[in-house]
Amino acid sequence: MKNFTSFADAGDYKALLQQALEIKANPYGYQHIGRNKTVGLIFFNPSLRTRLSSVKAAYNLGAQAWVLNAGADSWTLEMADGAVMNGGTQEHIKEAIAVMSQYCDVLGVRTFPTLKDREADYSEEVFNKILKYATVPVVSLESATLHPLQSFADLITVAEHKQKERVKVVLTWAPHVRALPQCVPNSFCDWFSEVDWVDFVITHPEGYELDPKFTKGARIEYDQKKALEGADFVQAKNWSSYQDYGQVLSNDPSWMLTPEHMAGTNNAKFLHCLPVRRNVEVSDAILDSPNSLVIQEAGNRVFSMQTVLHELLK
Ligand code: CP
Repeated sequence: MKNFTSFADAGDYKALLQQALEIKANPYGYQHIGRNKTVGLIFFNPSLRTRLSSVKAAYNLGAQAWVLNAGADSWTLEMADGAVMNGGTQEHIKEAIAVMSQYCDVLGVRTFPTLKDREADYSEEVFNKILKYATVPVVSLESATLHPLQSFADLITVAEHKQKERVKVVLTWAPHVRALPQCVPNSFCDWFSEVDWVDFVITHPEGYELDPKFTKGARIEYDQKKALEGADFVQAKNWSSYQDYGQVLSNDPSWMLTPEHMAGTNNAKFLHCLPVRRNVEVSDAILDSPNSLVIQEAGNRVFSMQTVLHELLK
């Protein structure tokens, strides 16, 4: 593994999953890997889970970690090549990333989409600049289009809780009050459409089709009730439109998951990457039920990151 930005970087996902389960069973057993190593974490937007789980993952491996909230803790960074920097930006990403690379052995970076310019977002304009200027391995802490550490944690969670060989996993769109990126659902599709013990189904209102590059021919069922039939795991998430880029086309509250929606499932376990808008995306009754795995899922963010750092530092 050179960098970790998508499912493709995971290589043999079964081996990586096995490694994650071994690390989780013995979290402090690999501290020699991180000795005298530093993990740098740069955030261009807010985070609770990614920030804290990444620090914890580094500590578990015996490494040090520093965190920089770009712009808030640092000079305001310029992203554009050839910019005449006579405005509000004070330092170019080119120097900033090259300098920070000298202060760490692995660099984790969270960027964000504009949700206005699809071409720029889907070409990962900003993240690719970071990859270009970094001189150490880079881990995506979420990019404009993907959130691979989240999906890897989701995979660990499903693997831990599945009670039969093959399982049906459903990704359902959920309503929200804001236009959100497609990173989490794109990434969930990128991973779960590849897992050979998963029957994967995506459900959303028409107009919310994701980039086929990530759905990879997975079954799309517009009837949410039909999609949920017999599901073993249900992941809910809002996203804005990919086709009508960044737009909110529907906020149909009937898509909010309630116990009635779950009635046709195989007593499905519930997943959500968090943060979640209670009683907008999902009802309290689901989040507070014993079938909800959202806390365990967030806990596994430590082990997805620890496994990736283990691969990059070993
Ligand atoms: N799921 C997730 O990435 O959470 P944060 O945005 O809080 O890091």
